[in-house]
Amino acid sequence: MKAFMTRFLRAPGLSNISVPQPEPGELQVKVAYVSLNPTDYKHASMSLPPSKVIGCDFSGEVTALGSKVPPKSFSIGDRVAGVVHGCKDSHTGAFAETLVADANMCFKLPTTANKEKDLQAACTLGVGWISAAQALTQRLYKDEKAASSQDDTLLIYSAATNTGMHAIQQARIDFPSTYIIAIASPQHHERLYKLGADSTFDYKSSSLVQDVQKLGKDIRKGLDCHSEGQSTVLAAQCMIPGRNTTVDDTKGERRVIRTLPPGMMSGSLPPGVRANEWILSYTALGKPFWFLFKYYPAVPDDYNTAARYLKNLTGLLQDGKVVPVKHRLMPGGLESISQGFDEMRSGRVRGEKLVYKIASLA
Ligand SMILES: NC(=O)c1ccc[n+]([C@@H]2O[C@H](COP(=O)([O-])OP(=O)(O)OC[C@H]3O[C@@H](n4cnc5c(N)ncnc54)[C@H](OP(=O)(O)O)[C@@H]3O)[C@@H](O)[C@H]2O)c1
Repeated sequence: MKAFMTRFLRAPGLSNISVPQPEPGELQVKVAYVSLNPTDYKHASMSLPPSKVIGCDFSGEVTALGSKVPPKSFSIGDRVAGVVHGCKDSHTGAFAETLVADANMCFKLPTTANKEKDLQAACTLGVGWISAAQALTQRLYKDEKAASSQDDTLLIYSAATNTGMHAIQQARIDFPSTYIIAIASPQHHERLYKLGADSTFDYKSSSLVQDVQKLGKDIRKGLDCHSEGQSTVLAAQCMIPGRNTTVDDTKGERRVIRTLPPGMMSGSLPPGVRANEWILSYTALGKPFWFLFKYYPAVPDDYNTAARYLKNLTGLLQDGKVVPVKHRLMPGGLESISQGFDEMRSGRVRGEKLVYKIASLA
């Protein structure tokens, strides 16, 4: 079968590899659609490690079940979507005609009238949804037992990212009384309100910090979905109460969770804001791995949380409580994914996911 793979000191490209067979607990999936994430093109452009199948997000049809897949959970012929660890080994990435995935990292598509449309949309969900769960449930809201009764404020910087749009929706569901401030370019503001934001701001505005401070909110929780350059510092400045505020600035810390390592942050944080934590969605996939020359052990809590959140997606989609991020269907299939990488690299993918069709299902 064909797979889109990293190559030693060369741009990624198509290779012929054998069809992967499911290990215990895995599903074999005929891939219908894939969506692209920044991590895919970043790994691919480093061309390290070579000979690995690229890609994390997919949808398709179950073609075989490994042993130990819980009875009644999945059957051959089910339409599913999910997440795999792209660029990790030579047979499990998403950008392939067939993949194998941990059954717990997959969810069934709801039954609706337009199966093709659902497959297209569902392949955009996995990474964004589990990343949001890591940032919110596992970090910012971790110690809050009665989270749904909390009346607090969450600031999402670069909220029109895939991660940001999933975080808004997830926060709205899991922490309904949270006041959500979404910071993104103005063309996305209407959509961000529809997804659940309470107020929106433009990160390019010279009065951003003052405008957010004028809300008079006590902002303890921040999520920086851009996490490059000065973005975390700007997010942190927005969280500091303004001069004429009644907010009590003495009761506890303010935290910003990042989507990239703290070493990628530039500038100085204002006093009272901590931003040394970041998420890594790969830790949710249940297996140890190397990333940027560092060894990461399996993290059962991340895995169990991701499994629970992915499983719940079926019902949330069915009930219309989660709306997949808007997507652009790209021309071509596996062989054209490099063009999608070019689009992402040049900053032309804003507020949308790029999707490729890999195969038609019967
Ligand atoms: N560690 C992890 O597990 C993990 C998981 C997910 C993502 N990430 C990382 O998080 C970042 C975002 O990924 P994603 O897939 O969520 O995003 P994405 O959908 O690819 O992000 C596109 C958005 O980035 C925004 N953007 C571009 N330049 C910006 C700037 N200078 N300041 C603020 N926003 C800017 C744009 O917002 P506007 O259109 O509003 O201008 C654009 O809509 C990537 O670096 C990715 O690798 C890491």
